[in-house]
Amino acid sequence: MDGEGNKKPWDASQLRKYDLTFDEIPRLHYKDPKIDEYIRANKPVVIIESNIIKPALQRWTLEYLEKNLGQTGHTCFVSKNHQFKYYDDKKIYDKTNNTKGVEFTPPTKKVEMRIEDFMKRVKEWKKGDDRIYLQQSLTTSVGNNIVEDFVKFDWDYVNGKQAKHNWGPLTSNLLFIAMEGNQTPCHYDEQENFFAQVQGYKRCILFPPSQFECLYPYPVHHPHDRQSMVDFEHPDNAKFPKFKDAKGCEAIVGPGDVLYIPIYWWHHIESLMRGGPTTTVNFWYKGGPSTLEYPLKDHQKVAISRNVEKMLLEVLQDPKEVGPLLSAMVLGRYTE
Ligand code: OGA
Ligand code: FE
Repeated sequence: MDGEGNKKPWDASQLRKYDLTFDEIPRLHYKDPKIDEYIRANKPVVIIESNIIKPALQRWTLEYLEKNLGQTGHTCFVSKNHQFKYYDDKKIYDKTNNTKGVEFTPPTKKVEMRIEDFMKRVKEWKKGDDRIYLQQSLTTSVGNNIVEDFVKFDWDYVNGKQAKHNWGPLTSNLLFIAMEGNQTPCHYDEQENFFAQVQGYKRCILFPPSQFECLYPYPVHHPHDRQSMVDFEHPDNAKFPKFKDAKGCEAIVGPGDVLYIPIYWWHHIESLMRGGPTTTVNFWYKGGPSTLEYPLKDHQKVAISRNVEKMLLEVLQDPKEVGPLLSAMVLGRYTE
């Protein structure tokens, strides 16, 4: 309860259990000038009561999406469990053409599915079945109705924020349709994100870029680059001792809420465990031009570390040599 007697449309039994506690991300009316202070400071905030995706809010039911999303295949992921951990195909070692990369068995299967087949599987899903998650970029291949809704988004508002905060261009709008209980494990993206909730409720747990050491990202060359190696539900405390010190914040977003996820911020996102499928559309923007003003921002240090890792791999060629060289450089020389 928030103390004002407003009953929330979800309760704690719909949330997965973690050993961490989280601060709450503030919720501000879309006209509140404080929103710009948060964005300027690279801090997350939930923008409420905006018209950013108004036509979608009014119209994008699962039935409507099924009719109008278009007849081409849509990108879906299939998982044996509730986790849908992202991986980069391009970083997988392929014996057949001898490309460089890491030997790796993808935890989910990427498939192209017709929207009717996706919806049918969601409706008929029962415990024990594989789970599915649609993650499709909104492009011109979607039907006309969706395009019409899309052009009626409040572009003045989002373009205004983009201009005011000097972001780069909008790169894509990804549509997410998840089954209840689906989870996108903790990762960061190299883009600014307005994460607009259309239907259902999602819990979003965020950590600032300064929590790098507590969240143990995979090496940059690994297919799980940008993902945390820690399984939040079963953290391996021996391997990842600092995870318990991770300090994050959370928001449960529902229809009409737009969460600002700052560039390089870690996010762990899950659809509540009951309450039906959830729909989100995000707005990904390139970051603004990076100026080397000191002190550097935490996310700039993350970008620097990424570049050092990439450079080492480029010259060493073999991913297996990167770790040993880094240890030889650091251990005993930069450590006590
Ligand atoms: C994102 C993201 C995952 C999800 O928008 O960057 O990670 O499950 N979304 O919504
Ligand atoms: Fe993401």
